[in-house]
Amino acid sequence: MVVFKGPIIPTPKTLDALFEPTMFRDYVELVSGRLEHYLADRSVRGLALSNPPALLETAQALTERPSAASPEADAGRLAAILDLYIRTGIQLYSPGYMGRQFSGPLPLAAVVDLAGSILNQPASFYEAAQLPNIAERIMADELNRFVGFAPHRFTMVTTSGGSLANLTALLAARNDRLPHAWSEGLAGTRQPRPAIAVGADAHYSICRAAGILGIGEGQIIRLPIDRERRIDIAAAKRTLEAARRHGLQPFCLVGSAGSTSVGAFDSIDQLADIAAEQDLWLHIDGAHGASLLLCDQLRHRLHGIARADSLTWDAHKLLFVPAACTLLFYKDKDKARGAFRQDASYVFDKHANGHADYEGAGKNLECTKRAMIMPLWVSWAMYGPAPFADKIALLCRATTDAEKIIAGEPDFETLHVPQANILCFRYRPAGLPESRLGNFQVEIRDRVRAEGDFFISQVELDGTAALRLVMMNHRIEPTHVRQLLRQIRKIGLEILAGAERAQPEVSQWV
Ligand SMILES: Cc1ncc(COP(=O)(O)O)c(C=O)c1O
Repeated sequence: MVVFKGPIIPTPKTLDALFEPTMFRDYVELVSGRLEHYLADRSVRGLALSNPPALLETAQALTERPSAASPEADAGRLAAILDLYIRTGIQLYSPGYMGRQFSGPLPLAAVVDLAGSILNQPASFYEAAQLPNIAERIMADELNRFVGFAPHRFTMVTTSGGSLANLTALLAARNDRLPHAWSEGLAGTRQPRPAIAVGADAHYSICRAAGILGIGEGQIIRLPIDRERRIDIAAAKRTLEAARRHGLQPFCLVGSAGSTSVGAFDSIDQLADIAAEQDLWLHIDGAHGASLLLCDQLRHRLHGIARADSLTWDAHKLLFVPAACTLLFYKDKDKARGAFRQDASYVFDKHANGHADYEGAGKNLECTKRAMIMPLWVSWAMYGPAPFADKIALLCRATTDAEKIIAGEPDFETLHVPQANILCFRYRPAGLPESRLGNFQVEIRDRVRAEGDFFISQVELDGTAALRLVMMNHRIEPTHVRQLLRQIRKIGLEILAGAERAQPEVSQWV
């Protein structure tokens, strides 16, 4: 048992005492003290990965309330739970975190999120969440200045994550192009078969959406990609023609603005030309990269975005707010309302009260939806767009710097020129057999993670695994990248020498 230093908060004995306002303050003090320490720790650390059964045992022990509980023991148990929560997480604010697309949120955004947990205003309906719905309207206008849709025609709605936004946009596309599908379903009876065309590197949520929407994964047309892993436009046209000859009728074209694997940006202008020629709905999955619109020097990656019909934009990635907060933009608000077609007297008020224009209910799947816009709106209101743009520019620059450093090492290879803040590479010492190349990267990645200093990810490119950096922390400097490379080299040579290393056990922490 840890020796607890900090405020002792007696566990309430009555129902009413559980809701005592001063307890809220005491709990916040306890939690914020620990989180301040977490935020202040600039050491290089990644993830302390534990074995699930060991963590389960530790967490189960913390679940049990001792029969003779004392205020000190209770406070110690609460602190131990918080410490375990912090220590088993990826250390998002450390320069050792280079592995995933979610960010260490802005502290202000996190505090507003906490306020949202007490206020608990479900944001689909105006009467339940007045300010969040107005904030959505404001952020829609603010961010549309960067997207460029016609101000009086476009709309934006928040959804719980990019996967759900992609599903919702594709549903709107399906209902627009196949108006009977909502009531009749598809039932596999239509000829030619409705299909969705996507780049070969598209996020898996697109294919998943095709399955959910009854289009069927079999009706996904995979468009070839070029050496930079962007949709190859000439080959895409040929593939679409071939698909039509094989009985498919594409109604929607999906491009990536920042692919998950390497952060590649498809040419939106060229995709928009195809969409216009072939009467396709153009959806751009900018879950990762739409935030580059805020940067003067990077905006061109999304050139032509105003020609898209819909755009997914994750604020919990490169806008540094707590997950999930996704913004789904539509060029035409009437098409957004076409996504869902329901009557439900208990929520959708038939007697027009003017609220419908100010609420998400008709445009988002969720009935109860977190007021996810509030952390973003308040941060934007307090700081303006500059810190977002500055941080994104720094992250992209750090990625370009990393590419130069890695390319300069003879035993490493970089796999692309970074377009954003993602970089894939391999450690490839002389003598490594080609047949071991992929598994070797996976082993290295796992052992880097087990060392605990860095958290990086892996990705499969053309069937062979690679190491993947996602720069989400502006405190990452070239020296951290060099330190990572030294560790990868050491581990790689150990693996080749056949050395083993054990995983840390979580139970030693508590
Ligand atoms: C390009 C792209 N689209 C969609 C998603 C899914 O977004 P979410 O994780 O918010 O559901 C991701 C997530 O990484 C992504 O990179």
